[in-house]
Amino acid sequence: MSEHKALILDETRKYHLDTQNDGGFVPGVSEIWPSGAVLDEDDRVALVEAALTMRIAAGHSSRKFESAFARKLKRRKAHLTNSGSSANLLAMGAFTSHLLEDRRLVPGDEVITVAAGFPTTVNPILQNGLIPVFVDVELGTYNTTAKRVEEAIGPRTRAIMIAHALGNPFEATEIAQLAEDHGLFFIEDNCDGVGSTYDGKLTGTFGDITTVSFYPAHHLTMGEGGCVLTANLALARIVESLRDWGRDCWCEPGESNKCLKRFDYQMGTLPEGYDHKYIFSHVGYNLKATDLQAALGLSQLAKLDSFVDARKRNWRRLREGLDGLPHLMLPEATPRSDPSWFGFALTVDPDAPFSRAELVEYLEDRKIGTRRLFAGNLTRHPAYINQPHRVVGDLVNSDIITMQTFWIGVYPGLTDEMIDYVVSTIQEFVGART
Ligand SMILES: Cc1ncc(COP(=O)(O)O)c(C=O)c1O
Repeated sequence: MSEHKALILDETRKYHLDTQNDGGFVPGVSEIWPSGAVLDEDDRVALVEAALTMRIAAGHSSRKFESAFARKLKRRKAHLTNSGSSANLLAMGAFTSHLLEDRRLVPGDEVITVAAGFPTTVNPILQNGLIPVFVDVELGTYNTTAKRVEEAIGPRTRAIMIAHALGNPFEATEIAQLAEDHGLFFIEDNCDGVGSTYDGKLTGTFGDITTVSFYPAHHLTMGEGGCVLTANLALARIVESLRDWGRDCWCEPGESNKCLKRFDYQMGTLPEGYDHKYIFSHVGYNLKATDLQAALGLSQLAKLDSFVDARKRNWRRLREGLDGLPHLMLPEATPRSDPSWFGFALTVDPDAPFSRAELVEYLEDRKIGTRRLFAGNLTRHPAYINQPHRVVGDLVNSDIITMQTFWIGVYPGLTDEMIDYVVSTIQEFVGART
């Protein structure tokens, strides 16, 4: 390492210490965020070092992150993207590829999903000309069930795309079995559940494709970023093509003729020998991330296990602290699961002597951040009202979530002292009104 680089990195470590707030936690004054990035000295150094190399597009660090992350999540291939939403778009888009021949999804085919959740789990269904079929979820786990999914399968159903709600696994074994029995593609949106297990297996290893987000609220962060993972090499190739402008060639930028027949292809109605680097076999996008993001991702990945442990510990502390409080439904892990929690959901009983809004206001006034369970019932939002869709059963619980549910944080940046303050504040609020 050059002398100047070593000096800069050393100064970066010192600067990191300068930025640390040593004022300590002051209840009611310090912010208790519901989520946020936990970035240490090594992360700062990793980013500065990446900037010093000036490898600013996707390259060596991106590939290194992809193979490390694929290994960690037990999939054969990972493709880094610029967001979790882009990862979902690629995952769904992959099943429309002509390379799947008569198994490919075509406009008008149906995809089963849930009504209560994040919009970009559902948007790729519509963006690919497919029809979302909404089912309801359970209160407490905030997931749907295999039974509800099974009831929604109709003659045009071709795929299932569901997120593990707030990191709590849905019945992945059973839903994977349904997918297999009915010949359906299965996408697990694991943006909120990295490190969760169901039946002792990592979430994201049950479906054909899984996705992850690296936005700061998530288990690992790159600022913005996401990933598509699969064990199926043919699907991985399609994802890569769609991510990288739709190109047919798989050489890295800056790499040429890896297949040793760059000028020997004939595809479409192109002339024989047209440069394979510029042959496009999909109507693609450019959804790549950069090496700056990947450098931060690699540094964060080294801490994933400790982040997951902290999330579980914080969730348990909240769960034990709030146990038995009247008028509040506490979250429950899906049976046979071990969630790597994203957040701690609370549902206020509809007939409680206080409203969700009053409780949320009380918490926010005391600097305890809250968030909604994303969109609540998506079908009530202006974006979806006139979109083609089907609803199976009623969406009673999704409506209760829309009215009565919110979540508070469990992210690794929270201390025991903060969690205890959250618990005592909620106890104080409910106690004064019961
Ligand atoms: C379940 C789920 N899917 C997808 C996304 C989208 O991820 P991103 O914000 O990286 O686009 C989110 C974002 O929080 C999410 O919670």
